[in-house]
Amino acid sequence: MNKIDRAGFGSKLGAILASAGSAVGLGNIWRFPYETGNYGGAAFILIYLGCVFALGLPIMISEFIIGRRSHANTAGAFQKLAPGTQWKWVGRLGVITAFLILSFYSVVAGWTLEYVFEAAGNGFAGRTPEQFVESFDLFSTNPWRPLIWLVLFLLATHYIIAKGVEKGIERSSKVMMPVLFVLILVLVGCSVSLPGASAGIEFLLKPDFSKVDSNVFLAALGQAFFSLSLGMGCLCTYASYFKKDTPLIKTAVSVGLIDTFIAILAGFIIFPAAFSVGIQPDAGPSLIFITLPNVFHRAFEGMPFLAYIFSLLFYLLLAVAALTSTISMHEVATAYIHEEFKVVRKRAAAIVTGGCIIIGVLCSLSLGVGRNIALFGLPLFDLLDFVTAKFLMPLGGALMAVFVGWYLDKRIVWEELTNDGALKAQSYKLIIFILKFIAPAAIFIIFINELNVI
Ligand code: TRP
Repeated sequence: MNKIDRAGFGSKLGAILASAGSAVGLGNIWRFPYETGNYGGAAFILIYLGCVFALGLPIMISEFIIGRRSHANTAGAFQKLAPGTQWKWVGRLGVITAFLILSFYSVVAGWTLEYVFEAAGNGFAGRTPEQFVESFDLFSTNPWRPLIWLVLFLLATHYIIAKGVEKGIERSSKVMMPVLFVLILVLVGCSVSLPGASAGIEFLLKPDFSKVDSNVFLAALGQAFFSLSLGMGCLCTYASYFKKDTPLIKTAVSVGLIDTFIAILAGFIIFPAAFSVGIQPDAGPSLIFITLPNVFHRAFEGMPFLAYIFSLLFYLLLAVAALTSTISMHEVATAYIHEEFKVVRKRAAAIVTGGCIIIGVLCSLSLGVGRNIALFGLPLFDLLDFVTAKFLMPLGGALMAVFVGWYLDKRIVWEELTNDGALKAQSYKLIIFILKFIAPAAIFIIFINELNVI
């Protein structure tokens, strides 16, 4: 396929919003607040900021360089930039990782739809804390309900992907990202004005360094990777749709800032509300699906309408954020099948959606009736989560950093960063240094640490 007839984002803003849509997801609104809660609040946030800007952004920039230079899907990109070498496996690894993450991420994304539905029917009103636990367990282990939502979620993703890059991905991001932003601001406003909210605000703003140890750094780096969508060619695929005049460094900085800002705002929704009713936000999927509906209803006790609206908007927010992320993972696999196997785009998308439904259904069942759908002693859902987040993603990220830092001709890097000399790239040397030494070393340390944990 030549450059002329290849799809692309129509504008620079579209490029930023689509990439930010990929980055902003369940990772920001669920994972970030829970990690912050676990690792000491403001101190964790400061370290996280360091990880995003010192390591995350250079790796994002390397994905952008690979994608925009090659104008190809992730696997094709490595083949073009390093023909005849084994680097293409890094791209293929990315495609597989994207497909696997999409399969189990969609299960949780489907849950958000159930909660939108429940919230819309005012199903949370009057429940006791025990009933919240019970109803989540009943729902997530039910053989049918989660599957219906999972399939619906994947069909929504499919619908947008099938519409194409500009009319589907770009246009939907331009609508969904502002909607998401407004929803977040309304929720933050409600949450911080609750009585007793100031304890939550203080937790987010006053660093307590006494809790900081090496685990905090590792958790912050892992979170930065997940949240910025790094390591599996997501942003590389999107960058292949960037135009010649899209400034790569600036775009990466904007995406990093938007992603971080939204994560911190999510903290400002969750902590003030939780502290106001005296609940410590605890770990795992249960935080958003069990603790929070309970928190919201207790926080707005005596104001049933506010409790209703708050819960409904929160789960809508979660669903929208998850959708812009599933779209980006779907696109990695769709673009690969479309371009490498010369399958028309719609059919390529259908293959990906079909495959994800099959694996997603198995993942979902592995949490309930199909507990024996397990490998290496882990239910399929947990296995995919573990293998992708702890292994495939960091590996992919490190290899991309090494590819741009060591393998790729520096003239190409320079041309991409400066748009053929039109822009300044004062941070060029710093970026190369980080990609060459710091990023691979940091990821290697995480690896070793995680292997110890097993
Ligand atoms: N960043 C998204 C989130 O925060 C999830 C995601 C989308 C992702 N694409 C990715 C994570 C690629 C890792 C790699 O929810």
